[in-house]
Amino acid sequence: MSITVYVPRDAGSLSLGAEAVASAIATEAKRRGLEIRIVRNGSRGLYWLEPMVEVATPEGRVAFGPVQADDVAGLFDADFLHTGHHALSLGPTEEIGYLKSQQRLTFARVGIVDPRSLVDYRAHGGYRGLENALGMSGPEVVQAVTDSGLRGRGGAAFPAGIKWKTCMDAQASQKYIVCNADEGDSGTYADRMIMEGDPFVLIEGMTIAGLAVGATQGYIYLRVEYPHAQRALDSAIQTAAAGGYLGSDIHGSGKAFHLDVRMAAGAYICGEETSLLESLEGKRGMVRFKPPLPAIEGLFGKPTVINNVVTLASVPTILDKGAAFYRDYGMGRSRGTLPLQLAGNLKRAGLVERAFGLTLRELIEDYGGGTVSGRPVRAIQVGGPLGAYIPVSQLDTPIDYEAFIAIGGMLGHGGIVVFDDSVDMAAQARYAMEFCAIESCGKCTPCRIGSTRGMEVIDRLKAGDTAERDRNEVLLRDLCQTMLGGSLCALGGMAPFPVLSALDHFPEDFAGAAEAAI
Ligand SMILES: Cc1cc2nc3c(=O)[nH]c(=O)nc-3n(C[C@H](O)[C@H](O)[C@H](O)COP(=O)(O)O)c2cc1C
Ligand code: SF4
Repeated sequence: MSITVYVPRDAGSLSLGAEAVASAIATEAKRRGLEIRIVRNGSRGLYWLEPMVEVATPEGRVAFGPVQADDVAGLFDADFLHTGHHALSLGPTEEIGYLKSQQRLTFARVGIVDPRSLVDYRAHGGYRGLENALGMSGPEVVQAVTDSGLRGRGGAAFPAGIKWKTCMDAQASQKYIVCNADEGDSGTYADRMIMEGDPFVLIEGMTIAGLAVGATQGYIYLRVEYPHAQRALDSAIQTAAAGGYLGSDIHGSGKAFHLDVRMAAGAYICGEETSLLESLEGKRGMVRFKPPLPAIEGLFGKPTVINNVVTLASVPTILDKGAAFYRDYGMGRSRGTLPLQLAGNLKRAGLVERAFGLTLRELIEDYGGGTVSGRPVRAIQVGGPLGAYIPVSQLDTPIDYEAFIAIGGMLGHGGIVVFDDSVDMAAQARYAMEFCAIESCGKCTPCRIGSTRGMEVIDRLKAGDTAERDRNEVLLRDLCQTMLGGSLCALGGMAPFPVLSALDHFPEDFAGAAEAAI
């Protein structure tokens, strides 16, 4: 009987040699006359163990990793197809502590299913949410999303139900669903993992959104550096259409929803929703004034729901298991689960989906295992390049939108980048201003000019004597206030977060050269 072997095909695993591993396994099995079936799954998100190979057994899957092509002959010698022991054995996959303690709702199928198989998707509970939604009215679906407490996972944490209702209530001959898959934040990869590992869940979520608000066309605005996600999405869209789950008659309902992928322009600002719309319309990605809100006047001037990949991919679970089921997870106004992406100087970087409420310390220490350098953690940047730098004294902050706002930070898209004590926080602050200067769309003065002036003041701060240091710090804080209050969008409006947090928590790194010499 043929044995199924899983070798991931997501971009992360491929960059670590998964393609060579898959072909070595196929070649070695053939040479030994063994019949196997290789499934190219998504990553489980345990990146320090990638490429992680799994073998299906009657008792569940067993894992081996990290596997390189050179290890493959030895794995066969150890009879890994029949759970034979090998130095790379990790035991039953579901028993690996990092995975076992997670609460995977949105990522329930990622790494488990064959991302190209609709049959596999349905066998693992896929399209149950859509089937339920087809039996409900648009307002009932929108109410379910509202009741679930789901907030946007792209950064602003705006309640998804309110956005959907605004679009649903708008009167127009054409409406759109746009998925923001630009994933520009540093240290983030949850969107990519979903699109590569379980693309049907995003398609299902967008279809439910379309039916709910009355939109018949959807677009996925996909980060241009994601060719593997593009291939996975293209394949899944074709398969879904052939299976009657996309097109002019969704699952025999007589209702239409069409979906296309558009490759993004390769600029951070094109992840900002109005800039994204400009880009999708074929123009340069410049931020639009709001109002009008995109939900009322969005793509091509029509009512448009724009949501992040994780937001939309969370919808099928809500429609399948119910709003109360989803809402039961979490704390305060942060309901459900958040896929957190651990990156930077960590022993065990990877994807951790947990209900809101666990602490940053649990993430860094229990999951991350501390720094890979072995040096003490000094700062953690949460929420991408515009997120605040959090000192170790605030590690007990719970993962909750409001708790992060209270310490001057933000959760954003759930990216967590760890730095050890060798980091120069003044250099990091300067980098925030430099990033803003490079990525600014140029529409408003505080961001376009302020970011460059910010770099210059930080340079002067570093170089100046004590008297000048005080003057330059006042100037820098004043400039940050102008950017915070006067920028048109959150690029200029949040670039001061990393700068101010670095100044507040790590003032010693801004000591001028003359001062440091004393
Ligand atoms: C400079 C900038 C970049 C952004 N980049 C992204 C991005 O890459 N992906 C994303 O989903 N949202 C991004 N956003 C947030 C979007 O503007 C918008 O809030 C989001 O797409 C709404 O979806 P959600 O409610 O599901 O989060 C960005 C915002 C700003 C200001
Ligand atoms: S803050 Fe920066 S990116 Fe945003 S509109 Fe102004 S210039 Fe453009």
